[in-house]
Amino acid sequence: MLLEVHGLRKSFGSGSRRLDVLKGVDMTLDQGELVALMGPSGSGKSTLLNIVGGLLAGDEGAIALDGRDYGLKGPASVVDVRREKVGWIFQDFHLIDGLTALDNVAFALEVAGMGGKEAEQRAVEALERVGLADRMGHVPEQLSGGQQQRVAIARAIAGDRRLLLADEPTGNLDLASAAEVLELFKSLCADPKRGMSILMVTHDPDLASKADRMLLLRDGQTVASDIRSAWGLDGGEEE
Ligand SMILES: Nc1ncnc2c1ncn2[C@@H]1O[C@H](COP(=O)(O)OP(=O)(O)O)[C@@H](O)[C@H]1O
Ligand SMILES: [Mg+2]
Repeated sequence: MLLEVHGLRKSFGSGSRRLDVLKGVDMTLDQGELVALMGPSGSGKSTLLNIVGGLLAGDEGAIALDGRDYGLKGPASVVDVRREKVGWIFQDFHLIDGLTALDNVAFALEVAGMGGKEAEQRAVEALERVGLADRMGHVPEQLSGGQQQRVAIARAIAGDRRLLLADEPTGNLDLASAAEVLELFKSLCADPKRGMSILMVTHDPDLASKADRMLLLRDGQTVASDIRSAWGLDGGEEE
């Protein structure tokens, strides 16, 4: 088991303005699993990822990731989780405009404490892994959306992190690029040398159905979902 979340609760605000977002989430992620997390807009998907990723403290419950128990500790206490265990991928890539693909990846490793030479070598390997060997010297504006997202994926995997948290990673991509990202996720999860797992938020039931498993966040809890209920949940809400 790579990730175990037990009884996780999180509310925002207080008094009559209190909003209970997570009401006892239980979920696990095995090593090598690609799990799609679905749920209506505002159901708490990003909140769940933020707590698992050590960006936000939970109110109640427990989290264990790759041998590290960090329960409800706030961001200041889980620096190691953010630096070593979890990689992030976002809808809008979050690349640095003025830096080449290579420097975007290497810079992130240097910020996490790696020496420049090793960071560059790792960045090259990661960019090769995502199929961008011939684009390393390009800056983001010279790359397509799908290529930019692959740079972001290279950045997320370059530090040998065990868990990738992907918050609507295909939200800004055309269908073909989104399908490529999903195939890349699957091959990363299947790579025994990496031993990594991916938790991916998506609104696209078609993509979600290609994951190993689907979870639905509903009424503050996660439930296993199949493709039929995934299609049914879409009430037309948009982000
Ligand atoms: N920092 C915050 N302060 C107050 N409310 C928040 C905060 N973050 C999220 N929320 C609220 O919590 C709910 C869940 O948000 P979020 O996790 O972003 O949902 P999702 O990612 O599923 O769309 C929403 O109603 C949102 O407005
Ligand atoms: Mg969200």
